[in-house]
Amino acid sequence: MPTTVGGHIELGDVTPHNIRQLKKLNSVVFPIAYTDKFYKDVLELGSMAKLAYFNDLVVGAVCCRVETEGDKHRMYIMTLGCLAPYRRLGIGTALLNHVLQKARDHGNIDNIYLHVQINNEDALAFYRKFDFHSVETKEQYYKRIDPPHAHVLQKDMRGCMTAAEPPVPPELSTNVTDTDSMD
Ligand SMILES: CC(C)(COP(=O)(O)OP(=O)(O)OC[C@H]1O[C@@H](n2cnc3c(N)ncnc32)[C@H](O)[C@@H]1OP(=O)(O)O)[C@@H](O)C(=O)NCCC(=O)NCCS
Repeated sequence: MPTTVGGHIELGDVTPHNIRQLKKLNSVVFPIAYTDKFYKDVLELGSMAKLAYFNDLVVGAVCCRVETEGDKHRMYIMTLGCLAPYRRLGIGTALLNHVLQKARDHGNIDNIYLHVQINNEDALAFYRKFDFHSVETKEQYYKRIDPPHAHVLQKDMRGCMTAAEPPVPPELSTNVTDTDSMD
């Protein structure tokens, strides 16, 4: 575990000017290579995609989307990650809290879900803290990584649209700012 030091966490928009930083970050954080189409689509996500800055350095990012089927709306987290040296500093929490806030702002999100490789203990522990639980295991979900299986983690949002989320640890004296300007 890294030694924790105080720092300033800020979330910022993904734009054509910084999309290459998102690509670079994702290439380091995830074992999967995302396509050019993925990044083209990210630029259309508005505030559903965010970069996380720690003391002005890009160290994390989230990309999610709303999926609608009939009158049911869900949010899907496509990517949420943080560079290894900056983990356990509350950056993942800041990114996930942004997703949860977007779900509350929407007002009619049934649940939030994502796929996690079955051996990704860090992510499983992280999402467990936020009351995500496995609703399904998809065999052979990934084509090029081993193990290829994924848990589908889900958090029910019905009845918790105003619930408080775990705060960033106070001992970090960390300020979280969301420079959301796309809404
Ligand atoms: C999962 C991930 C995003 C967590 O980011 P993070 O910035 O380290 O998370 P936080 O510092 O906000 O952690 C919040 C809490 O989650 C839990 N947690 C996070 N990582 C954990 C780990 N490795 N082991 C146990 N608990 C963990 C802890 O309860 C932690 O609180 P604490 O540090 O006060 O104990 C990060 O490990 C990561 O980027 N992993 C690679 C990408 C990935 O797998 N993403 C998930 C699929 S989209």
